[in-house]
Amino acid sequence: MPNPSSDKQKLRQRFLEERLAYPPLEIKKKSDFVQKRFLKFLKTVSSVKTVALYAECKNEVSTREIFKHLRKKKIRVVYPKINRQKKTMAFCEVKNLKSMKHASYAILEPKPGALSVAVQDIDMVVVPAIVFDEKGHRLGYGKGYYDRLLSDCSSKTVGLAFEFQMVKHLPREQWDRSVHMIITEKKMRTIQ
Ligand SMILES: Nc1ncnc2c1ncn2[C@@H]1O[C@H](COP(=O)(O)OP(=O)(O)O)[C@@H](O)[C@H]1O
Ligand SMILES: [Mg+2]
Repeated sequence: MPNPSSDKQKLRQRFLEERLAYPPLEIKKKSDFVQKRFLKFLKTVSSVKTVALYAECKNEVSTREIFKHLRKKKIRVVYPKINRQKKTMAFCEVKNLKSMKHASYAILEPKPGALSVAVQDIDMVVVPAIVFDEKGHRLGYGKGYYDRLLSDCSSKTVGLAFEFQMVKHLPREQWDRSVHMIITEKKMRTIQ
């Protein structure tokens, strides 16, 4: 019997291990390419006032250069803050990366008291993943945070990943939410 949940778990483990095996310099180089491509794409989108980024961990594509660029352009940047009990994410404004604090799962989060921004006021959500497929489906760490968020969010969603995190097809469960586009160091995919 097919079991999407255990298939997903095996894929997470495999792709996470693969990503962690890359040397930091190579991750940095590829991250720079992904971020440049994202910023090139952003120029083609009009009236983006607020962008949700994520604070990278475990060799994820970095978003630091994107942050710097958005701040220069006076675009508001928000980062997730996790509520482990409710299993939800809230988004808070960050003006300086140095103000962020290590929190749940040792990921940097906005400092306590940072201004929270409603999901409806976010124009674009940049989404991380352990692996994406060609249809925009994704596997996260297995807690469903982005699925919950995207289930009541109509913003444009852009996945960032390295090309080695792409597969043709992923197992999918009814609550899984996909992204509208995926940008890697090699290309930009617009999902139909
Ligand atoms: N919109 C939602 N409402 C409630 N629970 C959800 C929602 N989306 C996902 N979940 C729960 O989150 C858990 C993990 O989801 P999963 O898709 O496996 O993780 P991930 O997307 O992080 O890879 C599942 O048990 C699922 O029931
Ligand atoms: Mg999911």
